[in-house]
Amino acid sequence: MASTRLTSFEGVFTTLVEDIKAQCVEQYELPPRVWQWFEKSLNHNALGGKCNRGLSVVDAARLLLERDLTPGEYFQTATLGWMVELLQAMMLVLDDIMDGSETRRGKPSWYLVPGVGMIAVNDAPMLESAIYLLLKKHFREHPAYVDMMELFHEASFRTELGQTCDLLAARQDSVGMDFAAFNHDAYSQMVAYKTAYYSFHLPVALAMLYCGCASSRNLEQAESILAAMGTYFQAQDDYLDVFTDSNILGKVGTDIVDGKCSWLAVQALERCNVKQRRVLEENYGRKEHACEVKVQAVFHELKLKEVYTEYEDGKVAELRQMIDKVDETEGLKKSVLSDFLSKIHKRDR
Ligand code: IPE
Ligand code: IPE
Ligand code: MN
Ligand code: MN
Repeated sequence: MASTRLTSFEGVFTTLVEDIKAQCVEQYELPPRVWQWFEKSLNHNALGGKCNRGLSVVDAARLLLERDLTPGEYFQTATLGWMVELLQAMMLVLDDIMDGSETRRGKPSWYLVPGVGMIAVNDAPMLESAIYLLLKKHFREHPAYVDMMELFHEASFRTELGQTCDLLAARQDSVGMDFAAFNHDAYSQMVAYKTAYYSFHLPVALAMLYCGCASSRNLEQAESILAAMGTYFQAQDDYLDVFTDSNILGKVGTDIVDGKCSWLAVQALERCNVKQRRVLEENYGRKEHACEVKVQAVFHELKLKEVYTEYEDGKVAELRQMIDKVDETEGLKKSVLSDFLSKIHKRDR
């Protein structure tokens, strides 16, 4: 059932790639070699994910309209969904370079594909440009065209700000790891920016704009819940980075060797004794495998697996309470938020 849904959603992407190709050939008069490079990057980088963000645009629109979508509406909302997936693709291409990650979605990271290398740095903004080509082609006449465009710009900027927080927090000095910037408040702000806004708020806000129910009250209500959901999602991602088999995850965890301000690191620093803190200071953020193993051992000693399970249960209960309080009088639906939550609850990849 879920895979049929993904197959028809991916079918829309094939059409969109044809659209982009037509524009490259007719409007930009690109030679095949250049166009084919772009096509290869689009397919490698946009496909193969879980598509939670993209599918959520379609699902949210259906729930907001309270009826099945017409084939035309399905195509349009799936197009908006793919635009979110293109933003994701662009961010992931750069994220893998910056984090030194070698695999993504069970394949080599784009910059490590033979023949790609640092051309990936140019391919990333090309993926982003594809968003605006598609937005113009399919939504120029939509009453919310400018609002949608501004929303994509806002989401991109917030994600970039979050990535800056992420990268600056991960600095190591000559003596060892500097944990000065590792605390709950810094973590919450970083993840609200780097993950929550583009992954959760953007898909739902696009569906609201598409359906004509993006009142400021509805946007505000959705945003506060989706920010909390996004924080939970990144905490999950940080947990999976260390505790899940990379074959299931499709990517090899790098947070410990990269010295990231991850949910696990913040929890560990809060719970460790002096001796354990010393181990973390000396080994966190170091490339050597032996150092990574020592950090993992401290995480196990501190029972962070159990701590995470407790956090997850508490967070999901809290999110359900928040969703229950949503005021639906201006057309927002609780089901939009509970449906998104069910897509990520207890995920293993
Ligand atoms: C990974 O997102 C990047 C984060 C914001 C944590 P996903 O886990 O949704 O990745 P894909 O798109 O399904 O591969
Ligand atoms: C990435 O967070 C957030 C964005 C891509 C904006 P991570 O760096 O944790 O993502 P993964 O784990 O590599 O997917
Ligand atoms: Mn990363
Ligand atoms: Mn991660």
